[in-house]
Amino acid sequence: MATNASRPLEGRHILLGITGSIAAYKAAMLCRLLKREGAEVQVVMTALAKQFITPLTMATLSRRPILVEFFDPENGQWNSHVSLGEWADLMLIAPATANTLAKMTAGVADNLLLTTYLSARCPVMVAPAMDLDMYAHYTTQRNLKELREHGVGIIEPGSGELASGLEGKGRMAEPEEIVAQLKAHFSEKKKSLTGKHFVVTAGATIEPIDPVRFLSNHSSGKMGYAVAEELARRGARVTLVSGRTALPVPAGVERVDVLSAAEMYEATTQAFSEADGAVMAAAVADYTPQTVASEKLKKSDDDLSIALKRTQDIAATLGRNKAGKLLIGFAMETNDEEAHAEEKLTKKNFDFIVLNSLRDEGAGFRGDTNKVTLIDRNGKESLPLMSKHEVALHIVDKIETLL
Ligand code: CTP
Repeated sequence: MATNASRPLEGRHILLGITGSIAAYKAAMLCRLLKREGAEVQVVMTALAKQFITPLTMATLSRRPILVEFFDPENGQWNSHVSLGEWADLMLIAPATANTLAKMTAGVADNLLLTTYLSARCPVMVAPAMDLDMYAHYTTQRNLKELREHGVGIIEPGSGELASGLEGKGRMAEPEEIVAQLKAHFSEKKKSLTGKHFVVTAGATIEPIDPVRFLSNHSSGKMGYAVAEELARRGARVTLVSGRTALPVPAGVERVDVLSAAEMYEATTQAFSEADGAVMAAAVADYTPQTVASEKLKKSDDDLSIALKRTQDIAATLGRNKAGKLLIGFAMETNDEEAHAEEKLTKKNFDFIVLNSLRDEGAGFRGDTNKVTLIDRNGKESLPLMSKHEVALHIVDKIETLL
């Protein structure tokens, strides 16, 4: 459908599922904001949700009757979950309780909202809302991970004061934030990379010493995963060559799992041969043990030295065989940052390099934030401290200008 770029929700059919959480009161504002953006909203509530916000409120705001039961007990009229799923351009469950998330992963179909979810062919997003311990519970985290792996968009809850009086993560994202995520989902921009294929390397490599020990580094993979996710969101085919990380596969991304630098070299060079570009975010070991012991090394009273040999430089190899493809590198430095990054930009034939300094607070390995400078042959752009997700948006925006 033709959409107005500045109003990506105009005319969209949003199925708003409301479950039984105190955060259901925020669904009223959410519905209003969606309507204001021009969306059509059909509300489906669970029976418990009615205790938190009245159907009358939601019907008035959405200007449509609310659906709760499989059929109307008065006249027997059937509420078809199949046609609801077909009608919707997107199903948004907000708030989504721990109970509903668990039922979604288990395929339980004991209310209209869940049967609609099971038969929906459209994208589905959930905005979890619960107490901090319920949110942190391994079952909830496992369910969210599973939903994410199956392409359900998770709108992360915020931290703050909870209805229980406790402080922590579990508070449903604010309606404005949810609407912003829906707009991003529908915006024309996200499909701007359709037909392009990118390789992204991410995470830490593992260099075995013997069957139980290895050399590695602190990379969490978050930055590379955020870039892969954003490229896919804008329609690109993405091959994510991933070293060790604890992260789930981002929606729409093909992941190739590797361990050592040598394995990453093989997988990346192969994928690059049929790609339009690569983003090299992995922390690749520069050295690997000369020999890998086939049996566990036993200790002795003497000190031990392990002889190391150089690994192949994946980025430099791609840079030599670029043939007009895009190549983006990363540099993590502790001193003379820009000089080192510029040297790598030239040496590895990158189109631009993303520099982060370990001297900057909030930048670098494990955290969710980063502070980077994008450097190309024409100059540099220093960005303020922001989430790795936002850094990924800037990187992919710059990639688009170079295509
Ligand atoms: N890189 C790679 N293959 C390697 C080593 C690094 O693809 N074997 C990539 C990284 O993914 C990153 C860039 O090259 O994009 C980093 O450059 P590099 O000079 O290797 O950084 P460091 O390993 O930190 O180098 P140095 O130790 O010299 O600072």
